[in-house]
Amino acid sequence: MSRPAPLPQLPVPTRVVSDPRRAALALADELEALLSRRPEAVLGLATGHTPLLLYRELAERVRTGRVSLARATSFNLDEYVGLAADHPGSFRAFMARALFGEVDLPPERRHFLCGEARDARAECARYEASLSAAGGVDWQVLGIGRNAHIAFNEPGSPSDSRTRRVELCEETRAANRPDFPPDEEVPGEALTMGLGTILEARRLRVMAFGASKAAAVRAALLGPRRDEVPASHLRAHPDVELWLDVDAAMALSPNA
Ligand code: PGA
Repeated sequence: MSRPAPLPQLPVPTRVVSDPRRAALALADELEALLSRRPEAVLGLATGHTPLLLYRELAERVRTGRVSLARATSFNLDEYVGLAADHPGSFRAFMARALFGEVDLPPERRHFLCGEARDARAECARYEASLSAAGGVDWQVLGIGRNAHIAFNEPGSPSDSRTRRVELCEETRAANRPDFPPDEEVPGEALTMGLGTILEARRLRVMAFGASKAAAVRAALLGPRRDEVPASHLRAHPDVELWLDVDAAMALSPNA
């Protein structure tokens, strides 16, 4: 598939598509090429609505034999503190529904932070060590929160932060409320890969769709680089691409 030309004068190569499906197809093409060259690639995976079309496309390509994840490894970005792995709101359960139930990635090479770990610090150290032992992430998919968070690195997260336990903003908890039964609280804490950890991935592919992301996208690209806008730190990465739909890009024009 041909790629839309990157917008000029932005600090990150940014592509604006008419339909999020076009971004999902382009990124699936890139993953397919990576996996055919390097079947044992290490993939960094994200949860949320943003990557769902990509995961659907990837599952379809695995189903039809175009792509295989049989020798790949994955690391998910984050997990809520205190949720059992089989809780429907857990990111482990999300990934089972969104991708892992339909692809040939061996379960022993799907890595997750354990939100039920008694010693969060030890759990985060274990995760960093597993990432290093795997040789780091080759290809990381990311979404952006409405408050410009990356994974669960909320505003105020330094660019050199490592995997750690964090408190979630009320805005984030409210955005994720629909993933939980009405009688249950969204957890207030999570374990997350740090911005410094994420920035070590060799390629970052970031997607943002919809008008609710427009302000965060504008702050990330056009405002100063600062900890209050975690997504602005993505600008430090040498191989990052941002894929937007028209609504998410609407605040980027000079007179927006
Ligand atoms: P979303 O979440 O993909 O559900 O919009 C993205 C995020 O909060 O990082």
